[in-house]
Order: sequence, then structure tokens, then C-alpha cells
Amino acid sequence: AHIASLAGGTGGFSKNIPCLILVVGDLSYYVHERDRHLVYIDSSLASAQLMLAFQTLGLSTCAINWPDVDEREKALQAAVGLKTHERVIMFIAVGYADRDGQIPYSQKKGADLLLQAL
Ligand SMILES: Cc1cc2nc3c(=O)[nH]c(=O)nc-3n(C[C@H](O)[C@H](O)[C@H](O)COP(=O)(O)O)c2cc1C
Repeated sequence: AHIASLAGGTGGFSKNIPCLILVVGDLSYYVHERDRHLVYIDSSLASAQLMLAFQTLGLSTCAINWPDVDEREKALQAAVGLKTHERVIMFIAVGYADRDGQIPYSQKKGADLLLQAL
């Protein structure tokens, strides 16, 4: 729960995460300037596949953004002891969804209304 709470945006459910995966990119594999973004791209592609794989096993996941904030990086470093070339990309919470859980409905404005405003 402590590690999950470091990410922020998890206030409502950080204490309710049975399994938290830290997706960590190893910058030592990306030595060229042209590959500067690859650690994020590769990690995101792998994470998406992993989340789908969990789904096939009947598990549910929640992607949690890791913010690029120095004090959070230091707190996470103190908690899990990452090396300087290891960069946290995101967290993935994993668990069994509440059978009665629902997906919040988000009412969007219709195209007619939006076009009227132009
Ligand atoms: C700054 C911020 C970051 C958030 N990041 C995530 C996130 O990475 N993953 C996620 O599932 N929800 C994220 N949320 C959504 C919150 O978990 C929550 O669902 C949302 O804020 C609505 O709840 P509230 O009305 O209590 O604020 C974030 C929310 C905020 C404000």
C-alpha cells in the first residue's frame, strides 16, 4: 500500500491492491540517443500484453501512472532499492475484480451540442 500510494492517484484504492507489479526499464540496454524513448515504448507494449494475459486468466488489472517527480523517485528508491539506471515506468495493480463491481458511467456531450457551440 505504501509503494502504491507513492504514485498518487491511488488514494481511493491503494490499500485494496493484493498484488502490485513495478514495471522497470533498464536504461543500460538503450545506449544510443535515437533510442531515448524506447524504454517507455517497450515497457508500455509489454505492459499492455501482460494486462491482456492476466485478463485471459480471469484476473483484472489497473494501470497506475508513475509521475516524474524527484521526491517520489527518491521515496521509491528508498523503498525498493533500484539502481540508478533502472527507471520505473508504471505500476500494474492485479487482482480479482469484485463480482458486483461496476464501471462508472461517464456522460459525454453529444456531437450536436458540441457543434452548436462552434
Ligand atoms: C493526479 C491523478 C492521477 C491519477 N492517476 C491514476 C492512475 O494512474 N491510474 C488510475 O487507475 N487512476 C488514476 N487516477 C484516478 C483516481 O484513482 C480516481 O479514480 C479519481 O481521482 C476519481 O476519484 P475521486 O473522485 O475520489 O478523486 C488519478 C487521479 C488523479 C487526480
